[in-house]
Amino acid sequence: MITIHDVHKRFGEKRVLEGVSLTIPEGKTAVIVGCSGCGKTVLLRSIIGLVSPDSGSIRVGEDEVVGAERRDLFRIRRRFGMLFQGAALFDSLTVAENIGLALREHTRLSRQEIRNRVREKLEVVGLSGIEDRKPAELSGGMRKRVGLARALIMDPRYVLFDEPTTGLDPVMSDAINRLIIGTQRRLGITAIVVTHDMTSAFGIGDKIAMISDGRIVFEGTPEAFRTSALPAVKQFVRGGLDG
Ligand SMILES: Nc1ncnc2c1ncn2[C@@H]1O[C@H](COP(=O)(O)OP(=O)(O)OP(=O)(O)O)[C@@H](O)[C@H]1O
Ligand SMILES: [Mg+2]
Repeated sequence: MITIHDVHKRFGEKRVLEGVSLTIPEGKTAVIVGCSGCGKTVLLRSIIGLVSPDSGSIRVGEDEVVGAERRDLFRIRRRFGMLFQGAALFDSLTVAENIGLALREHTRLSRQEIRNRVREKLEVVGLSGIEDRKPAELSGGMRKRVGLARALIMDPRYVLFDEPTTGLDPVMSDAINRLIIGTQRRLGITAIVVTHDMTSAFGIGDKIAMISDGRIVFEGTPEAFRTSALPAVKQFVRGGLDG
């Protein structure tokens, strides 16, 4: 379980997180929504210590992330897979090299074993046989799927997805959503997904949380979110489904 309690973060004068509290149950998918610039990425990055909150607590299982030493942060981070906003792949590396990077850097596995694991993850995301291609030769949807394979390569217990479907057409978005649900269930991982896309949020979330003005203003089931009387939520649901 991941437990976020009263997290504050500001950059200079700009207050971004002003007391965020949220729990993400083990083995479930939590979706975080909110307007552009409201701090969703900052929150995700805080969970793995890439952003240091000014105060508050973020517990990953037994470990406290806020104020943790570098060495402990590296250990905690190993339990996470990340699909960053933009899913930047290294253009100069092949698909297989991109996906296998963490295995080369953090394990002593043989080249053959790495090759096998990369192939296995490419199968998981439905892209068998593209090991030797370069990112520039792939469509946006394929790049996202390669990013997902890379996020899964260390067999993480937790996976963070930052806008996994942004910029994709509805058919490809749907395919990515199904892939996220499928891998999450099959591998039993705990997933946190940041998205603007309400269809995705309703489709994949066991739980939805909404950030507004630096705080979580809603936390509950997709059904409760859909029928919430909170003006901020109503506006977001309507806007998201229309646009
Ligand atoms: N390293 C940083 N230094 C200064 N300001 C930052 C930094 N990181 C984020 N911010 C600011 O924090 C605010 C929240 O940014 P964040 O990226 O979390 O938004 P977001 O909710 O993910 O938005 P989007 O939906 O557009 O991705 C923004 O105003 C951003 O400019
Ligand atoms: Mg963001």
